[in-house]
Amino acid sequence: MSAAREHFGSRIGFILAAAGSAVGIGNLVAFPVAATKSGGGAFLLVYALFVFLICLPVMMAELALGRKTEKDPVGAYRQLSGSARLWHIPGWLALITPFMIAVFYMVVTVWVLGYMVEIFKGNLTRLATEAYFGEFINSKAVFIYLIVLMAIINGVLSLGVKDGIERAAKTLMPILFVMLVALVLFVLTQKNAFVGVNYYLIPDFAKINAEVVSKAMAQAFFSLSLGMGIMITYGSYMKKQDSIPGSAKAVALTDTLVAFTAGLLILPSIFHFNPQIDPATLSDSSAGMIFLFLPKIFLSLQSTIGYFGASAVAAAFFFLVFVAALTSLVSIIEVPIATLRDERGMSRKKAITTLAVVQFILAVLCAMSFGMADWLTHFVQIAGSDKSFFDLVEILFYDTILPLNGLLVCIFVIYKWKRANFDQELTVGDSGFAGTLSQKYVNFALGTFIPVILLLIFINTVALKFF
Ligand code: PHE
Repeated sequence: MSAAREHFGSRIGFILAAAGSAVGIGNLVAFPVAATKSGGGAFLLVYALFVFLICLPVMMAELALGRKTEKDPVGAYRQLSGSARLWHIPGWLALITPFMIAVFYMVVTVWVLGYMVEIFKGNLTRLATEAYFGEFINSKAVFIYLIVLMAIINGVLSLGVKDGIERAAKTLMPILFVMLVALVLFVLTQKNAFVGVNYYLIPDFAKINAEVVSKAMAQAFFSLSLGMGIMITYGSYMKKQDSIPGSAKAVALTDTLVAFTAGLLILPSIFHFNPQIDPATLSDSSAGMIFLFLPKIFLSLQSTIGYFGASAVAAAFFFLVFVAALTSLVSIIEVPIATLRDERGMSRKKAITTLAVVQFILAVLCAMSFGMADWLTHFVQIAGSDKSFFDLVEILFYDTILPLNGLLVCIFVIYKWKRANFDQELTVGDSGFAGTLSQKYVNFALGTFIPVILLLIFINTVALKFF
């Protein structure tokens, strides 16, 4: 048997670590882009409704599963499903999903790291040229950065839950908040910034349609790190005296506030760069925004604050994204580590090494899917078009399996583990939650319309991506 379970040292430590997981590239870039293209304030409203009415109860369910069992996702599902072996499947899905998402997220983070270093080296002008991104992602440097990134992440993870994950979050998250606010304040002083703010905040309800609603929901779900076993694993490190509902609310609120604030950074920057811009023409992808568009915007600042100033702002931004991605990666890689330790009795060190080898190989394959290796660049044909290995991982795990995992969590918690047990775990450490309207809502929603909504998103994605 392994030693006593590790725990987060304090409630705030848990909240910062979980918020560190939730706050990622999704918040800093994907959210502002989606909001801009899909109705500004109207999108914000729809998004916030999803976060608090749909995703928050799912987060509570994941945390409760983890804390009750004090196990990784595989162990948690197994322990609470007894002999019903079919219910072991969601546990395995909650293992493989974070594993694969980590691989593709690592590759993007490697690019962020590479850009950050180049800016420090004084190369912002080069970064802002159209061809640079393609050159960079196909250069050997990517593999060096991958090794550096993995060394940092696994270094943090090797120190354990309290001294590694929690300490990193407690140090990095406050830096992230302060830098984000500082950047926003700076950008707001720039010319035409408020054209961007208006565009961001004034609701355009005409833009809201079924597709936008589905996008808002998927974005909210991903942003809160749900469906990836992360909250089950982090829940398993929560102390019994801490409140699950209270902590989950704090995490959801922090995550949403950071996403909202990031909009106040990105939008004014875009409009400062070009006040006539039609945001509908912006690329949908976060990568397009981060690596192709933003460097140009930062460079344009040199007319007001000089090249050094522009580079400093750009470096600050890339550092911000890097920190956000780092704390997310730490959380997602902790999931398979927990599984190898709980299910296979491995030591933390051995689990980390085993995973690092496999993840390195898969990340290299992902990194080579942009032209370095032809067979990876044209890996499969889906819905009549060529997809790379990187695309395949993204479509399969991020787009498709995520909502499915969420759906399975809801059904499992309410109908297999049972409502009464779930309710009881929610009130451990928070006796005041029992009998409140929120408790009744969470209990009802998880057993009824939340799984239906997740199912619809799942079906919609399958139809869109595979046919
Ligand atoms: N919440 C993260 C984001 O918004 C998603 C994520 C979590 C990605 C953990 C990877 C690992 O970017």
